[in-house]
Amino acid sequence: TDGVVTLDPGYKNTGSCESAITFLDGEKGILRYRGYSIEELAEKARFLEVCYLLIFGELPTEEQLEKFHNDIKSQSHVDEDVKRILDGFPKSAHPMGVLSSLTSALVAFNPSSVNVDSEEDMYKAIVKILAKFPVLTAWTYRKRLGLPLDYGDDNLRYVENFVKMMFKKPSGEYTSNPLVVEALNKLLILHADHEQNCSTSTVRIVGSSHAGLFVSISAGIAALWGPLHGGANQAVIEMLEAIKADGGDTKKFMAKAKDKNDPFRLMGFGHRVYKNFDPRAKIIKKAADDVLDSLGIEDDVLSIAKALEKEALEDPYFVERKLYPNVDFYSGIIYRALGIPVEMFTPMFALGRLPGWIAQWREMRLQKEPIGRPRQIYVGENLRSFVPIEKR
Ligand code: SDX
Repeated sequence: TDGVVTLDPGYKNTGSCESAITFLDGEKGILRYRGYSIEELAEKARFLEVCYLLIFGELPTEEQLEKFHNDIKSQSHVDEDVKRILDGFPKSAHPMGVLSSLTSALVAFNPSSVNVDSEEDMYKAIVKILAKFPVLTAWTYRKRLGLPLDYGDDNLRYVENFVKMMFKKPSGEYTSNPLVVEALNKLLILHADHEQNCSTSTVRIVGSSHAGLFVSISAGIAALWGPLHGGANQAVIEMLEAIKADGGDTKKFMAKAKDKNDPFRLMGFGHRVYKNFDPRAKIIKKAADDVLDSLGIEDDVLSIAKALEKEALEDPYFVERKLYPNVDFYSGIIYRALGIPVEMFTPMFALGRLPGWIAQWREMRLQKEPIGRPRQIYVGENLRSFVPIEKR
């Protein structure tokens, strides 16, 4: 009914898969997590509810959510020796490289999370990474600023706790800003899963060798870092800043984006699957307006983004190629408004995508999928004989 396509049995070893987690229709701009529309979830759900939904398939009852959160809180300690690993990175290190390394390093401090075959052991590894990744993300950010690396507050909700870990000052009382928490809650939900994208496919294929959840997530973080993927949210702001510094001439940059001899691409535009508006971009664009209004922030980079979007939607080059704003086009404007620095934008994407990666890894393991083995079409040389070097 929703145009769901079934794959022929031969797909098993090609890296494609059957999944019941996320449905998207690129032509109609539809995105659903376990059958719930992204529009409803972004408006009504809490991020931890969506984590539970993606991973276990149903929205949790209050009792289930409380137990899930308590299990996560019980695992929020990160071995203090991890701070010594973090100390080994220069402050200039990109947070995505640091986070991929620290996530992989977690294995050394949680060896029982590697060979997980039972649902119970999988659950233990899942709550550990959901608990520790926000801590690692906050520590990575604060290390760059020379701030103390502390833990969260078990009395707070999951997202509120993360915001406090990120922004609490060494001195003085910390007061949570509900606008920041609500905006981040929505952004994390919108990033939570997106079926078989580059980083999720990476998580599934690394996990298919039974290498363990933490290193599969670490590989996903590395894949997400790329500017063609999650790294685009940082590249979008850098592009908008460059346009602003260049005098705000969006037409000049549109011309560059269309020039075949110019490698410049309009970051935040286009998508492997959406050949219509990315439904997340619509929600984030409105949220950007709301957040800036409620925080009383004037951001001329937003005005440049809107001018660029308007031009692109009317430009034949972009219209013919069905290039529309994607999830990364407006998200950075909200992160900026929330006081999150540009180098932390992609880590925010990773924090949001974490439950999706976990859900997809768990589905792959429970389905007992074979080790991923994409096939190829060989286009190289036919059989030929060795030629001694003196005769070459
Ligand atoms: C994410 O897959 C997912 O679900 C990813 C994601 C998720 O939630 O996991 O949605 C998150 O990664 C979103 C995408 C973020 N990346 C960017 O914003 C980077 C800029 N976008 C492009 O690099 C590109 O659009 C991709 C990588 C996103 C998609 O590339 P495709 O589908 O492989 O398109 P293509 O490279 O084959 O391009 C088709 C044509 C080409 O022109 P022609 O050769 O036909 O003349 O469109 C042009 C491209 O040159 N084109 C662009 C463009 N994107 C494609 N031209 C200018 N600017 C762009 N952004």
